[in-house]
Amino acid sequence: MATYFSKVQCYIATMTNMQTASSHAVRAPLNSLAQWKALQSHCSQQANAHLRDMFKGDAARAKSLSIEGPGKMFMDYSKQRVTTQTMELLLSLADASGLRARIDAMFRGDKINVTEDRAVLHIALRAPRTSRIMVDGVDVVPSVHQVLDRMSAFADSIRSGAWKGHTGKRIRNVINIGIGGSDLGPAMAYDALCAYTARDISFRFVSNVDATDFAEKTRDCDPAETLFIVCSKTFTTLETMTNANTARDWALKGLGGDVAAVAKHFVAVSTNAEKVKAFGIDTANMFGFWDWVGGRYSMDSAIGLSTMVAVGPAAFKEMLGGFHEMDEHFRTTPFAKNLPVLMALVGIWNTNFLGAQTLAVLPYDQYLDRFSSYLQQLEMESNGKHVTLDGARVQWSTCPAVWGQPGTNGQHAFYQMIHQGTPLVPCDFIAFCEPLNPIGKHQDLLIANVLAQAEALAFGKTLSEVEAEGSAPWLAQHREFDGNRPTTTILCPKLTPATFGRLIALYEHKVFVQGTIWGINSFDQWGVELGKVLAQRIIPELSGAAPKPAHDSSTQQLIERYRAGRGR
Ligand code: F6P
Repeated sequence: MATYFSKVQCYIATMTNMQTASSHAVRAPLNSLAQWKALQSHCSQQANAHLRDMFKGDAARAKSLSIEGPGKMFMDYSKQRVTTQTMELLLSLADASGLRARIDAMFRGDKINVTEDRAVLHIALRAPRTSRIMVDGVDVVPSVHQVLDRMSAFADSIRSGAWKGHTGKRIRNVINIGIGGSDLGPAMAYDALCAYTARDISFRFVSNVDATDFAEKTRDCDPAETLFIVCSKTFTTLETMTNANTARDWALKGLGGDVAAVAKHFVAVSTNAEKVKAFGIDTANMFGFWDWVGGRYSMDSAIGLSTMVAVGPAAFKEMLGGFHEMDEHFRTTPFAKNLPVLMALVGIWNTNFLGAQTLAVLPYDQYLDRFSSYLQQLEMESNGKHVTLDGARVQWSTCPAVWGQPGTNGQHAFYQMIHQGTPLVPCDFIAFCEPLNPIGKHQDLLIANVLAQAEALAFGKTLSEVEAEGSAPWLAQHREFDGNRPTTTILCPKLTPATFGRLIALYEHKVFVQGTIWGINSFDQWGVELGKVLAQRIIPELSGAAPKPAHDSSTQQLIERYRAGRGR
């Protein structure tokens, strides 16, 4: 508990000590820009435009509104409700929003996360050994590679069996304990890269403070063969520390109570060496990262230790190479040919001009099962903000709700709403040419489905087409599809570690571009603090130990019912 409060207090101290956000150059409100207004009037002129007509009227549309990026990543956004003129106007908006300067500032290591007074340098995590990236006058690249080297040695020793548990057995289960950015990235990456993983070790992820998560993930594990990786940037997060303590009790109980066992069954990934030590993990078994890596941007830092143990150092490095290629593409490519920029601009068009409030991300690859959960934090914790860098309330929409799951499953669940429902739901489809499990005709069937969905959403089916098929007149309207539902299709050659790195970096940079245009700080997360503080107040009240709680009548009633339900 005390540790948790220190996290909150540390935030408050940071807030009071650091330079204020007012040191950031004040920008004219986004909706006062001439470029914004030009987009508004363009949008009204486009109000009746339909993708059917856009394609009919422009034979070159597919070619002019698609682009190939690094690793032959192909992005076709011609089924978005944009024209080349829309894209030109959006590109002008990006220029007017100071995007170039913000990209340069991020890559230079400027402290662009002004509310936490931090640089934003996840790009340094995948920078080659020979690059130089300065923070406060110090080149951070050597320390990045030092940690990567230690991670590699550790991963090799687990994978080869050289690392022995307390009783001399080799490790067969690796359990990552973390939450948010210290869980979603590693858990998603393990699934995404599963085809490349060591199959003689099981990998599990415990995040929820609900004890069921821990109980179910450990129920068939032998403590003598189990290694816990405790991942927490701060090493104070309530859920993670609760689970880590439970894990230590579980391990010690199963290993005869000898505290020396902790050194063989626990390693930590954190920026907080002091707290790691206080927990009882030898800092020799700690893998560090830095305050300039945001939690949701940390899956390629030491937070990815479980990923590296799973896929091995070589594949992990291949993944970092993919990230870096996309970083370089983003940094150096003119905006009109820049994948993250174009993707972000299409999103701005959908959100701010067409009024979409959600974004469905629909990978046609079972290995990307957890991709949308990961993106929820990346996008919504980054850009779910209502205040600009200048401290003013935004007068425009910011982050849409991001959701989704792999196709084809969603087709038999929620696609009905995307096709015929009332909200406009833009979709990102992600697919790969070469299957990782080439069995029968599965891949052709999978790809036929993703292409068919994008086609159906764009072009729909008119009433006369339905009637021409002989549908009974009373049924025809139910079978009509409006179409004009915007989608982007990303088609890559194959889901390799490098492709995966490129894909994650694509979304990271897209989020940054959108945050820049919306004028918000994509790198803090004050919105998660209030609930944490209130939970701390309620914890003792649930046990009945605290004086009679005083809350609003609803919260009060629920506390009383809970206490009664637990016989307190
Ligand atoms: O509560 C939000 C958050 O701070 C996320 O931004 C972060 O990824 C997560 O909690 C976990 O934090 P930590 O890695 O410090 O345990």
